[in-house]
Amino acid sequence: MAKDVLTYLLDNQDTYVSGEYIAHKLGITRQAVSKRITQLKEQGFDIDSRTNKGYRVVSYPDVILPELIERETSFGPVVHFDTIDSTNIHARKCALDGSPERTLIVAEEQKAGRGRLGREWVSPKGGLWFSFIIRPRCNPASAPLINFVAANAVAKTVHDLYGIDVSMKWPNDIYYEDRKMCGIALLVSSDTDLIHYLVVGIGINVNNDPPQPTHTVSLKDIVSRPIDRNSLLISVLDHFKDEYAHFERGDYETLLSYSRSISNTIGRFVRVSFLGRDVVGKVRDINDQGALVLEHDGTTHVVYAGDVDFLRPL
Ligand code: BTN
Repeated sequence: MAKDVLTYLLDNQDTYVSGEYIAHKLGITRQAVSKRITQLKEQGFDIDSRTNKGYRVVSYPDVILPELIERETSFGPVVHFDTIDSTNIHARKCALDGSPERTLIVAEEQKAGRGRLGREWVSPKGGLWFSFIIRPRCNPASAPLINFVAANAVAKTVHDLYGIDVSMKWPNDIYYEDRKMCGIALLVSSDTDLIHYLVVGIGINVNNDPPQPTHTVSLKDIVSRPIDRNSLLISVLDHFKDEYAHFERGDYETLLSYSRSISNTIGRFVRVSFLGRDVVGKVRDINDQGALVLEHDGTTHVVYAGDVDFLRPL
């Protein structure tokens, strides 16, 4: 992302930055700086201007700011869209074109958001819809563990920022009580031995109204106030980085023990459906490959993919 007047204002949010300094740094005139400030104000930025001191950002609108995300995280470049079909589809194109690891695509709304198993994912403005590229140097069999890296990151974030305890429905849905708050969809490209790239797509209902109020929930309704989506995104990316470090070190135990601790699936009677085949049983565990271990009539079944339905209330 090229530097802009906004970059200097956000880099110095606690203080005033003079128009002269910004103009000098960007190699533009002071009039051009002042014009850009007017534009930013029109976009909803509250910018205080003081004679002899300069400008200071007091608050910013509910829009993702790539400058801020790049400054506060190790992710980037950040490609930001007002509207897109799907950040996952765009991220896949970028990965194929050779974009580096941690390239991040974020959109205010998606017109063709996709969930797991090709389902529609409703993504209006106010939600947090983003995808990024990683290129882990490992065998494709380990790819499903990235579900847990992402799920842990979201769960730890909402606990840290808002004190909320969420649970994970295997393999990667994030629930608040009995409603879904967040979904994760991975796109994997590999040959038989090595992963080429992985796109991690995360969708969180944040300031949008939940698409199906009886089954889904938005963060704003859980905490009863609007959410700063930039801070939320920064924290999810930070936590992802930490959880991913466990994965890269091969420390799957640390990764999975947290996932197991937030699982709402272990101990439940479930049906797991995949490609027209159902397996029913009581969930005993999530094994070291991230698969679900079910027991039915004394037989153990290990399930690697599928949709879980709870068969009995807790
Ligand atoms: C699911 O629960 O089925 C997964 C939903 C994943 C949605 C996210 S939103 C950002 C990214 N872009 C997409 O089209 N999908 C993922």
